[in-house]
Amino acid sequence: MSKVQKIKGVADLYPEESAKYAFMEATARKIFGGYGFGELRTPILEKTELFCRSIGEETDVVQKEMYTFPDRKGRSLTMRPEATAGVVRSYVENKIYQPGKVSKYFTIGPMFRYERPQAGRMRQFHQINAEAFGSPEPQADAEILLMLSAFLSEIGLEKLSIELNSLGCPECRPVYKKALDDFFNTIDKEQLCDDCRRRVDTNPLRVLDCKVGKCKELTADAPSIPDHLCQDCRDHFDAVLEVLQKAGLSYTLNPRLVRGLDYYQRTTFEVTSGDIGSQTAVAGGGRYDGLIHSLGGAKVPGIGFACGMERLAMLLDGNYDRKMDFYVAVVDERSSNDALLFAEKLRREGQCGEVGFAAKSMKAQLRYANKLEVGKCYIFGSEEFENRTVTVKDMAEGGEQTTIPLDI
Ligand code: HAM
Repeated sequence: MSKVQKIKGVADLYPEESAKYAFMEATARKIFGGYGFGELRTPILEKTELFCRSIGEETDVVQKEMYTFPDRKGRSLTMRPEATAGVVRSYVENKIYQPGKVSKYFTIGPMFRYERPQAGRMRQFHQINAEAFGSPEPQADAEILLMLSAFLSEIGLEKLSIELNSLGCPECRPVYKKALDDFFNTIDKEQLCDDCRRRVDTNPLRVLDCKVGKCKELTADAPSIPDHLCQDCRDHFDAVLEVLQKAGLSYTLNPRLVRGLDYYQRTTFEVTSGDIGSQTAVAGGGRYDGLIHSLGGAKVPGIGFACGMERLAMLLDGNYDRKMDFYVAVVDERSSNDALLFAEKLRREGQCGEVGFAAKSMKAQLRYANKLEVGKCYIFGSEEFENRTVTVKDMAEGGEQTTIPLDI
């Protein structure tokens, strides 16, 4: 019989790997909870229209990467490529907004993008996502960056770089776009990559952060976004930077950081690592003050980020699985029941451990116990069976072996 294989770009996460995900999730819950964020679980399936209207019709995500299909009644549905759109949809639909109220949510789960799979780039991947609604102040931008940095430090990743930019607002963006358009008229657009030739008309800012060498070269002298910010956006960005400096959070300004989703305004950021190959961004986010209104809600500002769990997992090493305290070796199979009951008693007292039922030799069982790195191995051999005792082997280097009465 032929075997059914998984589809391209998805993964089965076995315990060693999934333990890293559980660790990241538990840490996010702890850290984000400390900043007043509560968990919101939104559906994986949404109406396609939601993503077209929020992420932007001309983005790569909407143009080429969505898993979109008609349901049985012919309605177009899409498996979420990111979480922000669904969180905003829910916030608007459930009329959470009240003047002066701040709402903060985090979301953890799988996202789907039809991209070319490679290390750190999957078609089903997982994000830890946080969104704060209702705070226009620059301190909110700084706070969300500090929360992201606190989370990354807590999972043991201190040495990541934070890149920051401001993308301006509907006031100053058109002025900048005009300057960019004038610049594009001075270069030979035919030499740009296929994607950028299209983007020049449909999504010109994206040309700036194209990774193709020729595009970088041709746009080296393009006008810079931060040079075209209006006074309000300039003041906002300066205030964000000032708080970050006071808080001791280091960052690099990247005037070409544009992000791949259209909803951003003002502060945007990415966290990158040089240690995971070509897909360097482990987290990204920013402010999206117009999004809630554009999806039918009140004029409420928003800011958030998402971390890519696959990419963070690549940076985590070590064992995140629950550590076992003991191993019970059954050498005489007449003791199997006693061994099981003995182990169960220890587990009910809060210890973790496994029982090896008689199939393997004593030596093989001790080898396995060593691999589990348990503190103690309890041996149920023939002598122990006759005397109703258990041999306790301390697994530390030079550890002692003692015999105790079997008390179950
Ligand atoms: P994004 O930059 O598209 O932003 O994705 C955030 C992170 O998800 C990336 O930095 C990366 O680590 C991870 N990621 C994206 N695509 C893949 C993939 N195909 N395979 C593995 N990891 C991937 C957003 O999604 C925004 N919704 C973030 C946000 C929240 N902005 C405001 N609020």
